[in-house]
Formats: sequence, C-alpha cells, structure tokens
Amino acid sequence: MMGRPILSRVDSEEVLVRARGLVKAYSTEPVVKGIDFDVRRGECVGFLGPNGAGKTTTINMICCFVSVGGGELEVFGQRVNGDARDIKRRLGVVSQENNLDPDLTVLKNLLVYGRYFGLPREHRLRRAEELLEFVQLEEKRDSHIRTLSGGMRRRLTLARALISNPELLILDEPSTGLDPQARHVVWQKLRALKRAGVTMLLTTHYMEEAAQLCDRVLIMDEGRIIARGTPQGLIEEHIGAEVVELYSTDPSHSDAMALLQGAADHVERAGDEVFGFFRRSESARALLPVLAEHHVVHRRATLEDVFLRLTGRELRE
Ligand SMILES: Nc1ncnc2c1ncn2[C@@H]1O[C@H](COP(=O)(O)OP(=O)(O)O)[C@@H](O)[C@H]1O
Ligand SMILES: [Mg+2]
Repeated sequence: MMGRPILSRVDSEEVLVRARGLVKAYSTEPVVKGIDFDVRRGECVGFLGPNGAGKTTTINMICCFVSVGGGELEVFGQRVNGDARDIKRRLGVVSQENNLDPDLTVLKNLLVYGRYFGLPREHRLRRAEELLEFVQLEEKRDSHIRTLSGGMRRRLTLARALISNPELLILDEPSTGLDPQARHVVWQKLRALKRAGVTMLLTTHYMEEAAQLCDRVLIMDEGRIIARGTPQGLIEEHIGAEVVELYSTDPSHSDAMALLQGAADHVERAGDEVFGFFRRSESARALLPVLAEHHVVHRRATLEDVFLRLTGRELRE
C-alpha cells in the first residue's frame, strides 16, 4: 500500500493554510485571540496546548465547521466563509470525537463517506480496500462499529479521512484515550503518511508524538500562540540540554537540593519533585557523582519540559 503515495505529493512552498490575526469568540469572551500561522504543503505542523487553549476551535475554523470570528483565514488560497464545499472536499479530518456511523459496517462507513466526495463506487471500493489494509482492518471489513476497540475505531476514522486523497490531513488528538499498543500503531500510521509526503496539521497532548512527527510546533495557551519552532529548536531555546530530577520527600535531601540550586541553570520545584535544567550536558554530568546516593533521574531535555515551562504546572480542567 505504502509503495504508492496515499496522497498526492507536491514539493513546494505552497501555503495551504494561512491565518493572520485569527479570532473566535463563542460568546463575548474570545477563545482564539488573534493568531498568525501558515501550514505549507508537505510539512507536519503540531498544535500543542493545555485543554481550553483554543486548538479545536482553530481546527474547526479551518475545517469550516464553525465560522471565522475575525481576522483572515485562507485554506487552499480561498477565504474561509461562505461556500466551503471546495475546501471541505480537499480536506481529510480526524475529529477529536469519534463520529463513525454506528449502524454501518467498517467497509460501509468508508463507502458511504466516499460518496460525499462524489467518488464513483468502483473507485471508492478499491480505495476502501487499500485503506483497510493500510490501517490493518481488512479482517474487520464486515464488522459493526460497536464491536471495534477504541484503537480500531481511531484507525478507521483515519482511513475514512484518507478516502478522498485529501491535500491536507487534519487530526485533532488522534491518539488520545488509546492504550499504549493502540497509540503506537496510530503513530506508525502517521509516520508512514509523513514519509509519503502528506501535509498534516495535528493536535496532541503527547509531546513524544509531536517531537517525532512534527516539523514545526506551535504552542497555544489561552487563545494565543506563545511559542513556535522545531521541536529541537524549542528545547534548545527554552530548556537546554539535560535535566536532573530529584525527589525530595526525605528531608535529608536538602543538601542535594542545595547542590542542584548551585549548579543548574534553572531550578523548578513541583510538589515533591525538584528539576534542575542544564544548558550544557557537562555541567549535569559533573553533578551526578555527588548526587549518587539520592534518588535522581538524569535525562535529556524534552518537548514536555518546554511545554510545562511555558504553560505552567497547574492543572487545567
Ligand atoms: N461550541 C462552543 N461553545 C462555547 N464555548 C466553546 C465551544 N467550544 C469550545 N468552547 C470553549 O472555547 C475554549 C477553547 O476550547 P477548544 O478550542 O476546544 O480548546 P482545546 O481544543 O485547545 O482544548 C474553551 O474554553 C471551551 O470551553
Ligand atoms: Mg480540543
């Protein structure tokens, strides 16, 4: 299946989504507060942000599911408002909520959805069979949706989004709520699509997923984009190279904490944890023998460190 491109691949700097000063309010209080971003053909862009940041609202405007509140939004070079049919026809969407038709079989879900795009039955059938193979659901083709696991439903939703060979694939939390096995299968599929040159815009709470998959990430918080860059660029800019974590329930750890305070470029406390962030690996390593008798984790800095630094550690519920 992956021998052939799943979506049409065009290498160019063509901008598929362009937002300038994009705004949205459902009531008087805006939830998207003037954001600028582009998505170019061939790239994978990740929207990260705590719950309520405005990621789904932004996606829903791109998909023409909700109206644009203000500012400019162009998708495929067309202003979003009014006639959305052409934009919708060229998009593939995996929504945050599963919205498969529970009354139809797996295959029928794909065929009926394909009809919406005006694809002839023969074409839909061939495409559906290919996609079922791609998402490893060939054996479930005649099963009903209610008999599928969460991971199978998500894979079917992905297949359904691909039925029309979309130019842009939009995925809103494609791996949320899945068990680790199912999540890793979804990631494999998304990596395969990326290798095939598919343009993707996705949101995720898994920083590992974003770091692996995304060429660029945008971090949103309270309706604004607060940081943007490549995953590695953001890590270097905001965190540095390495992190030492210390668990400080034991009062005898105060000397270790003092050491960390003195040696790290930045120290953060959260409950019983203390994090020491190091711009240079050597400074972290020099400290390790001294901390050897304590419960210490030493690791590379990650996108999760960036996320928590920029959006804070308080719960967003
Ligand atoms: N249909 C809606 N009506 C009113 N408020 C909404 C609606 N959808 C989302 N919101 C509010 O808008 C804010 C942003 O939500 P959302 O875009 O879903 O964020 P995210 O996807 O980043 O979690 C939240 O405060 C949410 O409660
Ligand atoms: Mg959301």
